[in-house]
Amino acid sequence: MWAETINQGRRRIPDARSLAYARLPQSCGTKTVQKKIETMEYILYEQKGAYAVLTINREKALNALNSQVLDELNETLDKINLEEVRALVITGAGAKSFVAGADIGEMSNLTKAEGEAFGKKGNDVFRKIEEFPIPVIAAVNGFALGGGCEISMSCDIRICSDNAVFGQPEVGLGITPGFGGTQRLARLVSPGMAKQLIYTARNIKAEEAYRIGLVNQVISAEVDEAGNVVKTAQENLLAAAEKMAQTIAQNAPIAVRNCKKAINEGLQTDMDHAIVIEEKLFGDCFETEDQKAGMGNFLEKDKEKKLKVVPFKNR
Ligand code: CAA
Repeated sequence: MWAETINQGRRRIPDARSLAYARLPQSCGTKTVQKKIETMEYILYEQKGAYAVLTINREKALNALNSQVLDELNETLDKINLEEVRALVITGAGAKSFVAGADIGEMSNLTKAEGEAFGKKGNDVFRKIEEFPIPVIAAVNGFALGGGCEISMSCDIRICSDNAVFGQPEVGLGITPGFGGTQRLARLVSPGMAKQLIYTARNIKAEEAYRIGLVNQVISAEVDEAGNVVKTAQENLLAAAEKMAQTIAQNAPIAVRNCKKAINEGLQTDMDHAIVIEEKLFGDCFETEDQKAGMGNFLEKDKEKKLKVVPFKNR
């Protein structure tokens, strides 16, 4: 399973808050170019041609979200070059945890007003992910609890390794989910299932998350005939997420963005209005060069000139 690898080694830049330069691999017809990557203490960001990987990097605390992580995440999202990057993968550092929730130590002594402000801080960033113009894929490698489950739900697509654990354990800590869990889980699975999971604070494993529609795909390790692990589940998970990002990045970027907008905005209204949202975004595509290129290529009769993959220009 998932034997295919994407030959793009991940580059970690150890010195926090430094500026570093990384050579990027060729991807989606883009040239190999020198890219400036600004690293932060808790966020790694790597552009790989037409897609990028953002890693929440606080492994010692299982990537728990404190205010600094949320601020750095927010700042990184603002800096993403949307002219070049057409899909984003979000994952967590280490094999054990995607994100084990909001930081319980930081939350433990909050007042009512501070609690509300902390909820808003998380909600603002997660809403930014949800409304991010390009598709965002959560590659969930291990624990996705509380704020971890919530950040994954703000992404467009969730795929996970088979050691992933999802849950909203907040009521066991004396609080409600605070970064959108009550709203997004009820919309993603069903209100009844979301209520059961949230009221009982029961964690679920990857297979159950798949069965209830919380994740699209569960990825396992690749094992050879002798039972040796050839690729870990996490390696395969990242490869699968990056392959999906690459596939998305090959399609017409404006059309993909308009699809995201149509689905997100349409889901917030009734069908009569939703269908009009789609009509307008559909119409907008006909003003793009990429629509001319895509349809022109389909209609091309000369086999020599017909392309397998159209190099869409994001125009
Ligand atoms: N906040 C702060 N620190 C956390 C954390 C969190 N959410 N989750 C894990 N950590 C820290 C632990 O304190 C520990 O730190 P130390 O080594 O300094 O003691 C380190 O990460 C490793 O964790 P454990 O030793 O507990 O690892 P484990 O393998 O025994 O257990 C776990 C793993 C089951 C995920 C467990 O860490 C756990 O239950 N974590 C909390 C999960 C949780 O309740 N999340 C929801 C938070 S509330 C929330 O998110 C509210 C919201 O909606 C906004």
